[in-house]
Amino acid sequence: MFDNNTLARFQDLETPFYYYDLALLGETLQSCKSAADKYGFHVHYAFKANFNERVLQAIQAVGFGADCVSGNEVKKAIEIGFAPEKVVFAGVGKSDREIIQALDNDIYCFNVESVQELGVINGLAAERGKIARVAIRINPNVDAHTHHYITTGLEENKFGVNQWELKACAEELRRSANLKLIGIHFHIGSQITNLEIFRSLCVRANELSQWFEDHGFQLQILNVGGGFGVNYQDPEGSAVNDFASYFEVFDKFLERKPGQEVHFELGRALVAQSGNLISRVLYVKNGLKKNFLILDAGMTELMRPALYQAYHKIENISADASGDLVKYDVVGPICESTDWLGKEVELPLSKRGDLIAIRTAGAYGEVMASGYNLRDIVGSEYSE
Ligand code: LLP
Repeated sequence: MFDNNTLARFQDLETPFYYYDLALLGETLQSCKSAADKYGFHVHYAFKANFNERVLQAIQAVGFGADCVSGNEVKKAIEIGFAPEKVVFAGVGKSDREIIQALDNDIYCFNVESVQELGVINGLAAERGKIARVAIRINPNVDAHTHHYITTGLEENKFGVNQWELKACAEELRRSANLKLIGIHFHIGSQITNLEIFRSLCVRANELSQWFEDHGFQLQILNVGGGFGVNYQDPEGSAVNDFASYFEVFDKFLERKPGQEVHFELGRALVAQSGNLISRVLYVKNGLKKNFLILDAGMTELMRPALYQAYHKIENISADASGDLVKYDVVGPICESTDWLGKEVELPLSKRGDLIAIRTAGAYGEVMASGYNLRDIVGSEYSE
């Protein structure tokens, strides 16, 4: 992945920085696109995973739509060139200002998360003489069996409309002259690698779509969200996800009425493997029980380990890999004990100045950066 030319280039650069392999990104996007096209499925890229401009441009170029969760993401999608009719707006707490902005841009659809929100969108659409297209996000109570911080489809989560509220939704929709229900939406969680879980989602989605048909609503779209996980352990071996198997599950198990479209909101699976965080060793601290590698990057550049105890593969790309391995806790410079990137990581003997690559950082890395400790927000480098 890091050939000699790349390493030579890194030597001259100030660290830390995010490094995007645009060729791998392109390959991933094409692979997803052709697997989705096989079944006529539509993909809206979940902006929240990464809104780096170059990444977004590549995604827009393959023809995917945009799944946005804030007014600023909607604005960004349109600036980048995503057609408004390919922009959907989700999120549990859309403000009036954000809803108005989306209405003014005539976006494709609002994924609505509560009965109350239906009323608010209807009112704001009426004031503007518009009809807002909506999809109801239903909490299907399907366990994603992922880290509990990134599970969203259980009744205890704040997301979506619960099944016992569907009647109230239907009534609100019938009362709302400025809303048009076009579909139903689900998203049960993120980093799901067991495809059986998506099969369970299909079974619930079939029942819920039938409920709407039985209550006189014709659904144009079934939106099954995102959540397809990536292989953090083996970024090289699984550089591109098996999109064919993923979409096949939905083709097999999701029942579609004639003309009904299936929409996906993939984030991580499209961008994770093409991004890396490149950092330098500042200090090596040999303790009694542990050795620490103290890097110039930390939780401010990649928050996932601190927030979810997430694993990212860490490599010393300067050291000679053939020597004996040493165990290090790889930590950042932030004044927090949770500021670690890897625990008990086996690396070649490492020294001050060595370059360290933190892999699979293209999703929920750069976008979750913070300026804590008044740190700089770091930039990006690219390979074509
Ligand atoms: N659709 C909805 C409604 C979502 O909430 C999400 C992610 C996605 C689509 C995209 O999911 P993906 O395909 O990327 O799994 N920061 C966490 C992940 C948070 C996911 C939030 N929602 C992490 O670093 O693991």
